Amino acid sequence: MKKIAIYPGSFDPPTNGHIDIVERGLTIFDKIIVAVLINPSKKSLFTTQERIDMIHESLAQFSTNIEVESFNGLLVDFASIKNAGAILRGMRAVSDFEYEFQLALMNRKLNNEIQSVFLMTGLRWSFISSSIVKEAASFGADISDMVPSAVYKKLKEKFDLKS
Ligand code: PNS
Repeated sequence: MKKIAIYPGSFDPPTNGHIDIVERGLTIFDKIIVAVLINPSKKSLFTTQERIDMIHESLAQFSTNIEVESFNGLLVDFASIKNAGAILRGMRAVSDFEYEFQLALMNRKLNNEIQSVFLMTGLRWSFISSSIVKEAASFGADISDMVPSAVYKKLKEKFDLKS
């Protein structure tokens, strides 16, 4: 039986931290389905399709073991449609724990057959989030070493960054 994990998130935009988690996850799982949440009530910088395209491009080298899809509704429902036995999430610091704990227990309550698996992000990405990268980029800061090159290109277009 293939070990399949769902790696859900907003990915607005994907960062090097997200890519790091997928790479680590692929040492455990045969296939990872990166699941981009469609959330019309949350204002996002990138459209769902732009996020999917950036993830595809950034993970091109792992394309045989990766799928990238959007989803709405309950994550556990999407996971079971996809035959995924696990939900993969990254943790950067203790501050992530409370939310992740709540999310994992709620997901377990909703579907006891899907396990949550947490991986520690590489230390050098531990301070990075999509929000902080967007904020820094919006003020013209150099975030080129915090996001994959496909994402950097898109951020440059959005914020009219030089270099
Ligand atoms: O990258 P994020 O924003 O931290 O990801 C949050 C995400 C997408 C994992 C979470 O919001 C989610 O799973 N949303 C789908 C609805 C759902 O199943 N919620 C949890 C149980 S109510």
